[in-house]
Parts: sequence; C-alpha cells; structure tokens
Amino acid sequence: MTRKATITIDGKTIEVPILKGSCGPDVLDIRNFYQETGMFCYDPGFTSTASCTSSITYINGDKGVLLYRGYPIEDLVEKCDFLEVAYLLLYGELPDIAQKESFEQSINHHTMVHEQLRSFFQGFRRDAHPMAIMVGVVGALSAFYHDSLDIYDPQQREIASHRLIAKMPTIAAMAYNYARGCPLPYPKNQLTYSQNFLNMMFAIPSEPYQINPVIARAMDIIFILHADHEQNASTSTVRLAGSSQANPFACIASGIAALWGPAHGGANEAVLSMLKQIGSVKNIPEYIERAKSKNDSFRLSGFGHRVYKNYDPRARIIRKACHDVLDQLKLSDPLLEIALELESIALKDPYFIEKKLYPNVDFYSGIMFKALEIPTSMFTVIFSVARTVGWIAQWNEMMADPAQKIGRPRQLYVGEKNRTFFKST
Ligand code: SDX
Repeated sequence: MTRKATITIDGKTIEVPILKGSCGPDVLDIRNFYQETGMFCYDPGFTSTASCTSSITYINGDKGVLLYRGYPIEDLVEKCDFLEVAYLLLYGELPDIAQKESFEQSINHHTMVHEQLRSFFQGFRRDAHPMAIMVGVVGALSAFYHDSLDIYDPQQREIASHRLIAKMPTIAAMAYNYARGCPLPYPKNQLTYSQNFLNMMFAIPSEPYQINPVIARAMDIIFILHADHEQNASTSTVRLAGSSQANPFACIASGIAALWGPAHGGANEAVLSMLKQIGSVKNIPEYIERAKSKNDSFRLSGFGHRVYKNYDPRARIIRKACHDVLDQLKLSDPLLEIALELESIALKDPYFIEKKLYPNVDFYSGIMFKALEIPTSMFTVIFSVARTVGWIAQWNEMMADPAQKIGRPRQLYVGEKNRTFFKST
C-alpha cells in the first residue's frame, strides 16, 4: 500500500505518492504535480530535491556515513585497491579473482591515447591550468573513438567506460608534464593503476624512477575516497548532459568543468592557498572571524558541506593518512599544523557548531597531495581522475534505465510581461 501525502491548493486537494528507498529519506513523487496543479515546485540549489533513483552511493550526512554499493568507505579504503572499488561502483559487486584480472586487463588495454591526441597539447600555453586541458582533451576523445559512441549499445557503453577510466590518468600526467616542459609520458601496464599514474607523472626518460610504495598506497586511498559521492554538482552535470543523449566523453568533460569550481572539487586547491594565506597559527583567530563575518566574502575552504552536517568520513580518513604519509616519509609540514589548529578552533566555535560546519574531504587532501609532491594546480585534476569512475557508473545507471528522459527543469519567471515594441531612434 503506497503511502500518500495530500496537498490542498485553493480548495483543490491532490494526492502525492510517498516513495521509500532502501535507506535514507523518503521522497514525494511530484512527477505529475504540474499536470495536476499547474504549479511548479521551487528548489534552487536542489536542497530538497531527489533527481533520480540510484543504488550506487549512499550518504547519511547527519551520521557522517558514506557507502559505495552498501560497503562502508572505511572498509573499502582498508581492504581494496582502486580498481577493485572501480569495479564495485561500475558493476555493483566486488570482483572475484578472475573478474579483477579481466577488468585490469581491459583497463590496461586502454591506457594509451591515440597518438594524434598528443598533438592537442601543443595548442595550449604551457601555463594553461591543467583543468582547462582536461576539459578540452577529454571532450576531444569523442573525435577519436567512434566505435564506442552508440550509447544504446551496452557493449559500446562498457568500452567507453573502460576507455575513460584508463585514459584519465594518462591525460592528467600528460597535462602535468606538458606544463613543466617534459616529454609527454606513456603508461607502463605492468604497474598498478596508482603506480602507473605516479610513474607517468614523475618519471623522466633520462633517470630511473623508483615508485615509493607509501606514496603509491596514499594515491590509491585518495582515488578511492574521491571515486563517487551521490548526486553532487558534477555528477548531476554528467547525468543532465547524458540525459540529452550526448556521448560519454562529452558528458565526462562536462563533469570535469563542473568539478573545477572552488565551491566543489576546486576546494582542495583553495584550501592550500588559504593555509598559505593564514601563514601562521597566530593568525587563525583573525581568519575565523573573517569566515564568520557577513561583510567578508572569505570562507574557510574545505569546511562545510551540503550533505554532511557531521564530520565527512573521507576527511577523517585523509587526516590519518596525512599523518601516516608524513611520518613514513619523515616529512613535516607547517601547513598541517595550521590545518589541525584551525580545525580544532573552528570545531569549538559556536558559529561552526550551530551551522554544523565540519572539515570536508578537501580540507586535508591538499596537504596530502603536497606531501606526495603533487603541485597545487593538479589537485582537482586528480580529483577528476578518481571521480570519473563515479561519473561513468552513474551515467551507465541512468542510460540503462528504460524510463530515462531528458532533464528539463522549469523556472519561476520574474521578468517583464508582454511589452509593446518600442525602439528609441
Ligand atoms: C565537495 O556535494 C558533494 O558531495 C561535493 C563533494 C563531492 O565529493 O562531490 O563532497 C566535494 O565539493 C566538498 C565541498 C568543497 N567546498 C568547499 O570546501 C568550499 C567551502 N564550503 C562552502 O562553500 C559550502 O559549505 C558548500 C558550498 C560546500 C556548501 O554550501 P551550502 O550547502 O549551499 O551551504 P551554504 O553556503 O548555504 O552555507 C550555510 C551557512 C551559510 O551561512 P548563513 O547564510 O546561513 O548565515 O553556512 C555558512 C554560509 O555562509 N558557511 C560557511 C562555510 N560554508 C558554509 N561559513 C564559513 N566557512 C565555510 N566554509
């Protein structure tokens, strides 16, 4: 028996079905609301809107819980490598040995990019932001892989998905090396996904490059933590682009563009700039006051979240991994001291407590990247490499839904009404 809500508008009452998921908030099914009432529901920023049904990722923001296909993120970070988690997000189950081997072979089969795509890089300035390169080059993949553009062929969808997961690290490392005037790297498929990425990023032809297992493991953790996160801004962008039946390469390029913003995936880069701007623990109180002031646009980057009104579980994991990596590499970073003190002060401050503002995944990731000698401009690029798995899993879920239709929101129009045409001479 479906539960229903009744809504009465100007004396007319309609019944709205209430749908229940496997966990999380129930939803009001308002798909016929406009047809039955002639009114739209108004929700800019989608603070109270469920845009789809999904079985990929579940977040409980009040409890600080994150599940990928039902598995707690803490368990996956501890027990899996990134490609196992990628398989889980794509196919819904953790791979057995044979499935993992076959998946790794398929990904490895696609790690190189078309040789002509390498010439695209010459068109960029050396000081181009690597996210600008990622948006351009990933979108251009659709100009090369015509055999995986039929979005209604499940096999072509799978090939395109594997191509994107496989090529993102290669393109990211090419963007980094292009910026520093080094040769554009080639993948080495005998390495793991994270080792291959680090090797492409930092190895140069004239010197042997020793992959530090601590750094490779840290990279895997970062990739796993950033892989998916429900219907965030960039994932919603990918879904909306996909709903128009755009090809998967174009859809992922749109996700990269949306992720770039400092309110979203660009926050990790902004956190490091903020910590450098604060400069010393003694300056923290001034910046905390600025973050609270309505008359100051300064916000604590890496703090606050639309969904988490508790500690972001990813931030907790990265904070510990940060300590471990710095200890194992025998490094210290004054920015980590500033971040820890900033967190400690903010979490005791009534403003942050009342508004339930906690550190999010980006608060510590920048310090971790710095310990791995990743340049600031590459932080969001690495986020996009990891999130490509989530984006493409969500895109596949949407494309496999026979009821899928183009996303087309409406508006509350507040502009001019019918005006008599008048043109001043
Ligand atoms: C990511 O959605 C996802 O899942 C995203 C992500 C993912 O994995 O995909 O988790 C990745 O994007 C993490 C978030 C990274 N962004 C930042 O760290 C930027 C700093 N954070 C803020 O910009 C903000 O918290 C957002 C954008 C993250 C969330 O914004 P909301 O939900 O729209 O909340 P809001 O801006 O309406 O803030 C509510 C209140 C406001 O005060 P009032 O107007 O109610 O008085 O809290 C204040 C805000 O001013 N506030 C902050 C603050 N964040 C919110 N005040 C100071 N510092 C902050 N960081």
